[in-house]
Amino acid sequence: MAEPRPILLDCDPGVDDALAILWIAAHPERFDLRAVTVVAGNVGLECTAPNARRMLDVAGLGAVPVYAGAHRPIMRARGKTSKMHGGDGLGDVGLPPATRAPEPLHGAQAIVETARACDGRLHLLATGPLTNLALALLLAPDLPELIDGITLMGGAAFGPGNTTPAAEFNFHVDPEAARIVFESGIPIVMAGLDVTRQAVLSPQAMARLSGPDAPLQGLCGSLLAGYHDPCLHDPAVVAYLLEPALFESVAGHVAIVTTPGDTAGQSVAAISERHLAGRAPNAQILTGLDQPRFEALFLNSMVTLGTSL
Ligand code: RIB
Ligand code: CA
Repeated sequence: MAEPRPILLDCDPGVDDALAILWIAAHPERFDLRAVTVVAGNVGLECTAPNARRMLDVAGLGAVPVYAGAHRPIMRARGKTSKMHGGDGLGDVGLPPATRAPEPLHGAQAIVETARACDGRLHLLATGPLTNLALALLLAPDLPELIDGITLMGGAAFGPGNTTPAAEFNFHVDPEAARIVFESGIPIVMAGLDVTRQAVLSPQAMARLSGPDAPLQGLCGSLLAGYHDPCLHDPAVVAYLLEPALFESVAGHVAIVTTPGDTAGQSVAAISERHLAGRAPNAQILTGLDQPRFEALFLNSMVTLGTSL
C-alpha cells in the first residue's frame, strides 16, 4: 500500500466543503491532511475559520491545524454572504463550537510553509475562492516547484455559471485570484459545474443519511438538510482523488475573465486546436461523472468514518 498522500485543503465551509472534510477524514490510508486553510466565501472568515475547526474536530482530525487566510478578494469588495449554507455556514445544525482559534500564521503563508515541508509532494485541494492560493503564489514565486498539483472546485467550462450567467461562485468572488492560479503553470484538475452538477445524491441515498443508529450519516443528513443546493460540488474534488476513473475529462486551456462586468469570473475553455491557437493546455477539465458509483463511494466512506469514530 502506497504512503498516504500529503494534502492541504483550502476551503470556505460551507456545507459542501464540510462534507469534503468528512470524506478526507474517512480515508487516512489515502490522505495525510497536513493543514486546512480557510478563506471568506460562502460566509465570512469569522465563520469559515471556526467551521473548519468544528468539522475537523467532529471528524476525528482535531490535530490538523487550521489557518485563517483572506477575509476578502484581492481586488473586489467582499460579496454578499450566501444563504445557501444556513446562517452559520454549516446548515445551522448546531455543531459544538470550535475548540480553539486558528493558528497565528496567515493561510497564504501556511500554504507556502506546508509545501516547503513536503519536499514537492504536497497536493492542494481548493474548494473556495482562490484568494489564498493566489497570495501564496505572490509570496513564493517558487511555489509551482513546491507542489505537485491542484485539484479544485470552480468554474464552468462549457455551461452557464451559478452566480451569474457566466460565472461560478468561487471564480466570481475572486476572478483575479483564479486568473493568477490558472496562469501559474501548476498542473490543475478543474471540477467545475460541468461535472459537479452531476454530483447529486438519489432519494435512496439521502434516506440512508439519517437515523439515530448512524450518527455520522445523520450529521451528513442534517448538514444536507440545511444546504439549499442539491449538488455536492466540493466532495467531487475528493472523489476525483480517491477514484479518478469515476470521471471523464478533457485537456484544455482555461482563461479567467477579470474585466469588470457581467462576465467577470467566467472560465473560458479552449479545447480544439483552433481555439487553443498554439497555447498549451493548463487544466484537465472534468466533464463526466458516474453518479451511481460516486454516490456509493460517498455512502461507503461515511459508513467507514462513522464506525471509526
Ligand atoms: O459554486 C459552488 C462552490 O461555491 C462550492 O465550493 C460552494 O461551497 C461555494 O464555495
Ligand atoms: Ca466551497
